[in-house]
Amino acid sequence: MHSRDCVKVAVRVRPFNKRERDAGSRCVISMAASSITIHDPRQSQCSRSFCFDYAYWSHSGFIQDHNGLYMPEEVGGRYADQDCVFHDLGEGILENALQGYNATLLAYGQTGSGKSYSMVGYRPNKGLVPKLCERLFEAIKGNQDTRQCQVFFSMLEIYNEQVVDLLSRSSRPPGGLRVREEQHRGFYVEGLRTVPCDSAAQVEQLMEQGTRTRTTAATHTNANSSRSHMLIVLQLKQIFSKESISKQSNINLVDLAGSERQKSLGSEADRLKEGTAINLSLTTLGNVISALADMAVGKKVVHVPYRDSVLTKMLQSALGGNSRTVMIATLSPADICYEESLSTLRYAERAKHIQNRPVVNESPTERLVKELKAENARLMQRLSRLGQEGRSANDETKEIRQLLTHNELQIRTIHTLWEQHLQEALKDWEQQYANITQERRMMQMHPYILNINEDAQLSGVVKLFIQEGEWDVGLCDNTSTSITIKGLGIQQRHAVMRNEQRRVMLTPLKGSKVTVNGRAVGEMTELHHLDRLILGSNCTYLYIGFPSERGADDWIYYDYDYFLSELAAAEGIHLGQTSAGCCKTDPSLLAVFYDYIKLMPLVAEANQMSQELNKGVEFKLEIKNLVLSDSKGHDLEKYIVCRVISKPSKQVWIWSKAKFVNRKFLMEEIYQQHLAELKGEHREEGLSTAALPRDKDPFWDPVEPLLLGTAHLWLQSLAFRIPLDEQLEVLGSEGSEEAIIQAKLLPCSSTGMPLGEDDILIDPSELLGRRLDVQLVLEQCFGLCWIREDRSRGVQIGFRLFDSSVPFYTPAVWHSVIPALHHKVHFASRQVSQRLLDYLQSSALLLELWGLQEGCSILVSPLEGSKGTTEGVFFIEGDGTTNNNPTVSALLNSSMAEFQKEMEELKRVNKLLMKENQSLRGQLNMGKNGTTSARSRSVRPSCDAEFARSLKLFYHSMTSVRAQLQSLRRQRPGESCDLLSLRLFVDEQSGLLKDFSEHLEATVSALKRDVAAIVRRKRERWGSWS
Ligand SMILES: Nc1ncnc2c1ncn2[C@@H]1O[C@H](COP(=O)(O)OP(=O)(O)OP(=O)(O)O)[C@@H](O)[C@H]1O
Ligand SMILES: [Mg+2]
Repeated sequence: MHSRDCVKVAVRVRPFNKRERDAGSRCVISMAASSITIHDPRQSQCSRSFCFDYAYWSHSGFIQDHNGLYMPEEVGGRYADQDCVFHDLGEGILENALQGYNATLLAYGQTGSGKSYSMVGYRPNKGLVPKLCERLFEAIKGNQDTRQCQVFFSMLEIYNEQVVDLLSRSSRPPGGLRVREEQHRGFYVEGLRTVPCDSAAQVEQLMEQGTRTRTTAATHTNANSSRSHMLIVLQLKQIFSKESISKQSNINLVDLAGSERQKSLGSEADRLKEGTAINLSLTTLGNVISALADMAVGKKVVHVPYRDSVLTKMLQSALGGNSRTVMIATLSPADICYEESLSTLRYAERAKHIQNRPVVNESPTERLVKELKAENARLMQRLSRLGQEGRSANDETKEIRQLLTHNELQIRTIHTLWEQHLQEALKDWEQQYANITQERRMMQMHPYILNINEDAQLSGVVKLFIQEGEWDVGLCDNTSTSITIKGLGIQQRHAVMRNEQRRVMLTPLKGSKVTVNGRAVGEMTELHHLDRLILGSNCTYLYIGFPSERGADDWIYYDYDYFLSELAAAEGIHLGQTSAGCCKTDPSLLAVFYDYIKLMPLVAEANQMSQELNKGVEFKLEIKNLVLSDSKGHDLEKYIVCRVISKPSKQVWIWSKAKFVNRKFLMEEIYQQHLAELKGEHREEGLSTAALPRDKDPFWDPVEPLLLGTAHLWLQSLAFRIPLDEQLEVLGSEGSEEAIIQAKLLPCSSTGMPLGEDDILIDPSELLGRRLDVQLVLEQCFGLCWIREDRSRGVQIGFRLFDSSVPFYTPAVWHSVIPALHHKVHFASRQVSQRLLDYLQSSALLLELWGLQEGCSILVSPLEGSKGTTEGVFFIEGDGTTNNNPTVSALLNSSMAEFQKEMEELKRVNKLLMKENQSLRGQLNMGKNGTTSARSRSVRPSCDAEFARSLKLFYHSMTSVRAQLQSLRRQRPGESCDLLSLRLFVDEQSGLLKDFSEHLEATVSALKRDVAAIVRRKRERWGSWS
């Protein structure tokens, strides 16, 4: 009988990292016992709570001792250190393994949330794996008299669905190792090296070796280790000779890839989907967990997709199978990580429902030994019987003797195999130990460069020594005078390093990229202890000076982030240190900044690959401001896009961040293939890079219209039926002026005749329930930068009316910097609702300027061809159907029903209000002048007209006031922000502010003056009102 066992789930929250501290981040996680609550930083009253088997508070309340060990501030404090986590999770795993159960420990969480810290740890804060190994070998020693134990260790990585053996001594097979399936064994990796170990030190040694392989693979193939899964498998065999039983258990320890969800901002759906293999394993893991969680709550699940990815094949027994499984979900406490942390918690919540069916395993080999022994016993009996019968010399006896020897031999081989393997492993281990000792000695004698990786686990693994003399640095294969560095953009001979008279000089060679402390260098430069070097597009190293210059562990401070921030600062992008303490930076701005610096090296790599593959494509990061796409002009989020420019054709694409990351991944694959081709190797599959068809080329896309910028045409004056004639500035995503559009909004009659001044309304609510007709005229564009850059291009303007999901487009115009558009649209509402009125009073019509390029299709509105109604009027709301186009009708139908309801309600309210209004007016007239109601009717329109005129003036002035405000908002100090330019900027800003306030004041007082004059005139005509 299988016993059922739920997956145990623990969550752990780490301290703020430097970046988060600098940004003044707030902690959005709180914990009480095993329950955890996450607070939405945008809505403080909004929070979600979860309950797990364990919740670890490792965020605060700790101190670091002189060795760097983290521990609770006070005895019994709430801080959960590595020991505490091991006590709850590791001990259980160990206990299970000793009992003969398979056990699995998974770490899940976003990049940098502390998965590797919990699993592997950073010395001296050892994580679960080394602690588990220590305790395992202690337990083995302690139980020596009752059982004989054998431990086999293997370590592998899954990257892009390929399995890499991290302990393998032979070269990497193309396509990685195969995952096979056998009936009694399940899935296993064919040819994976399993190393016998008999001490924790040996295991640690092997882990170091594995990490080294991972590091070199990551730098050479330009892979991102955060996207790979690392698996350690410990096989424990226990032979209880007295009881003649044996137990075998597999302990899987899994450090999963960072779990970032890719936000799909803008138009996603990449033409090339293959890049999703980056996260295929993680996505499939999510699907498997969901399916199993559904199964556990009694939902019908047809299929659990274990076979869809390598990782889930490997974890089949851990999830819903024969294993006791624990998941540790790690969280960043910071407000900017809220979305990711919430998603991690949801994931963990699902995982805790999974039920496994663990059993104690008996090893098939041991069963064989038992069976062989039993058979031998039987054979011996038979032999002695034959002897007693006096037939000891016949054929049967001979055959039995042969069988007996064969069986004995088999038994002996099974037992000696372990010993032999162990001896070999020991030799290997000794060799490596000697290498390490040698490396330590060198560290004490020479300066060296140390690799710094995005994944902190892989930092500081590679040390390249600069001994006295002159050294070629580059791809150059290990000659006696070279230091080999591999990576993107590294040349055969990249630079020269000279160690002479206790000074180290670095000289970049022609055409090679070298950055020291964030600045590109082209000439001989002296290196100083802790200088940051970037060679090629992204090989990051820290220079460690002569032993006399060093302090204890002083390099720890220089992590990958430090390198990137330094580069960003050199590009004029500052944040972090400068804003720390003085004011709190907007979290959305911070998120964009971090995105930017994270993407910078990727862009450098993509540019390098494009260059080496002769693609002629250039990549550039841009920060887009969503304020430009908001019809209320609110200052919304900013986000990053990548502008892609084909240099020969001048074609331009804009890719979202997610698309760029996806494409970058595909570019790497093509690039690796290219390198293999250069070396004359043939990849198993895939096309030659030279003959790559366009539709498979990650550097290429069909050209599409590009959104160049937007302009806001404010609608407020329409609520008063005041015509508007404006020159609108079209602003690009970075605030630059892309063009001017001349646009008019003309209130008109249902037949399109312009309204006069007498039709201007004083009270917009008079529009409610009445028909409103307006013509939008887009006259002309001026100063089109897009076309000035390249005359072969064209433009179109797109806009959406009210809440219609269907856009309108002007016809395309090509080749002209000042194209005439003369585009007129008549739109109407049969009965203006409160919602429409609110919209008119508070929103703008967003005019989108679209850039067309040669070969791209033009934008066509789904409404094209159907002329709305017979009169060519487009109804933006009301009960009339907008058009006969079925797709549009479908889009509008659902909202129509809603409108209808709302309209009915409004009509009812309106009727009541009108009635009330009439009676009030009657009373007022009676009170004012008992006799001349006819006279008042004749005077009112002329007073109204005067008032309307002054309102019209007011709104015209307000439009330019608003434009002033917008330009004030956009003003930013220049990039080279020295004190003088800052002072100039502040002066200019105060000048603009002064103009703005004067203009505003003049506008308001003009209105006040006009109103006062109207009132005065009224009084003169009617005498006193009171
Ligand atoms: N509980 C903790 N206490 C102190 N420091 C921590 C803790 N957890 C994580 N850190 C620190 O945070 C940084 C990132 O942690 P770690 O490398 O474990 O992240 P990760 O989840 O493995 O990221 P990746 O997905 O990139 O591999 C490291 O410098 C680590 O020292
Ligand atoms: Mg990690």
